[in-house]
Amino acid sequence: MKFFVDTADVAAIKELNDLGMVDGVTTNPSLILKSGRDILEVTKEICDMVSGPVSAEVVATEAKAMIAEGLKLAKIAPNIAIKVPLTWDGLTACKAFASEGHMVNVTLCFSAAQAILAAKAGASFISPFIGRLDDNNIDGIELIADIRTIYDNYDFKTEILAASIRSVNHITDCAKIGADVITAPPAVIKAMASHVLTDRGLDQFLKDWAKTGQSII
Ligand code: E4P
Repeated sequence: MKFFVDTADVAAIKELNDLGMVDGVTTNPSLILKSGRDILEVTKEICDMVSGPVSAEVVATEAKAMIAEGLKLAKIAPNIAIKVPLTWDGLTACKAFASEGHMVNVTLCFSAAQAILAAKAGASFISPFIGRLDDNNIDGIELIADIRTIYDNYDFKTEILAASIRSVNHITDCAKIGADVITAPPAVIKAMASHVLTDRGLDQFLKDWAKTGQSII
């Protein structure tokens, strides 16, 4: 399973990247806003740091304008994945980008039907939003499972990039189902290391060690 980090926070990406935890990065207009940075500058900085795909999202809503924006974003670095929304115009732009050999991440996917269209339009990645489905009382993990089944049935090469991840359980559930990639905020990835029994066990070991009066160094 590949790990993408869902942020435009360069320091947070660096911390995880230095540990070998980063296979790619996803950004979106909200994350660019949160970073307070210029999209072209911050995306370039991320691309220079991370060798895997870095998603940069278009904001136009009409195919021709999306294509112009996407081609500009693709010039930032060879590892840019142009991110387009799952609309008919987005699919049109996806097909155009894919035909020219660009990586495309089709985002804002909320149904298996949408995922089929993205695969047929040549998307490199499909981004189903688990958390936002769960927020609306629809099972996001079930959608990942459905897309996995469909893509495997027809040997679609589009990678399932599970997005809108809110919890550690989302990540392990995606891993069990066979999502190709998860993209999660840095805090959720770091939370994977935490377990109450690890904390309790370490606390006991340290207390007992102190009683031995020994030191290793
Ligand atoms: C990733 O590509 C998405 O933009 C992101 O995961 C959305 O997450 P959110 O629903 O927490 O905003």
